[in-house]
Amino acid sequence: MPSADASAIIAELERLAGELASELAGLATEQEIRALQAKYLGKKGRLGEPMKALGRLPPGDRPAVGEAANRAKGAIETAVGARLAALEEAALGADLARVLDVTLPARGAPLGTLHPLTLVRREIEEIFLGLGFEVRTGPWIETEWNNFDALNTPADHPARDMQDTFFVEGGRILRSHTSPVQIRTMLAGPPPVRIVAPGNVFRRDDDATHTPMFPQMECLLVDEGVSFADLKGTILHFIQRFFGPKLGLRLRPSYFPFTEPSAEVDAACYLCEGTGISGPSKGPEPPATSSAERSSAALARPARSCKLCKGSGWIEIGGSGMVHPNVFKAVGYDPKVVSGFAFGMGLSRMAMLKYGVDDLRAFYENDQRFLGQFR
Ligand code: PHE
Repeated sequence: MPSADASAIIAELERLAGELASELAGLATEQEIRALQAKYLGKKGRLGEPMKALGRLPPGDRPAVGEAANRAKGAIETAVGARLAALEEAALGADLARVLDVTLPARGAPLGTLHPLTLVRREIEEIFLGLGFEVRTGPWIETEWNNFDALNTPADHPARDMQDTFFVEGGRILRSHTSPVQIRTMLAGPPPVRIVAPGNVFRRDDDATHTPMFPQMECLLVDEGVSFADLKGTILHFIQRFFGPKLGLRLRPSYFPFTEPSAEVDAACYLCEGTGISGPSKGPEPPATSSAERSSAALARPARSCKLCKGSGWIEIGGSGMVHPNVFKAVGYDPKVVSGFAFGMGLSRMAMLKYGVDDLRAFYENDQRFLGQFR
């Protein structure tokens, strides 16, 4: 029989194991449970307290106390393990009990769209590729010679004013039009030449209808016997493919240093079909906010004038003409042997007309609500 002292220690050990078991029941996280375990079994834990008296016991009592200590320790570890397992079980149960409706439609991934100016550029390229033209590009930073001099526009030429541009270091400029690609192409090889050249150009302009950078598309055809009729036929084919089969074309005498004769290219307004009047079936009336505004608008425009062409029936889409002999001389072509036509158009203008957009800046503001409409 162990001594009374030994029995007291053994009873205390059993009491402590029991105490832990009841404390454990109130704990709900692994962290709390581990802390409680440490409080009893740790280095300075509560189970160590009664064992301090072990040294004062008669040696014959010590094994029984040691055994009791091991039992208490084992009981605590078992209780902790069981409580942790129960917690894990409960968490898994809660997870499994969650109801997932796998038949709900998925959230779609947003799909990007091509920029309207890209769509227009690609469509125009396709039309000209179909006519046997090639697509060429040139750099935005150009020599003054390619941009002006070789295009029959010497330094003192007043036409340079129209295309006032940005000068960069090294005597180079931001190209003011895509026409220098004509020069680069002709310098690169002999005639015949059949190219379209899309790309950005730069001018000192910034208002509702002009941006300092805008995309153009150049068209150049050089061969023997090319006539003004070829120019007109090509442009007519192009705008009818682009805007619709019945669209009329008008060439207005104009001036460019690098073409002679030169013409401004107007397409019949596709919205009013060249009438200048927007009938009931020809798109919405311009918005008027009050009845006073409506009646004054009615007075000013007895027949509603087309909002797109402002009543003229025509829309300017670019410049054109027969390549000037001086341009051929600059690139080493013989103007007595070859002739050619060139045509340049603003791609943002083509996009405005095609899609009925009335503010140019919409193309450059990157507003997703606007850009997402073009597919
Ligand atoms: N380069 C001219 C411009 O930007 C357009 C043009 C091109 C005119 C080709 C005639 C021939 O205004």
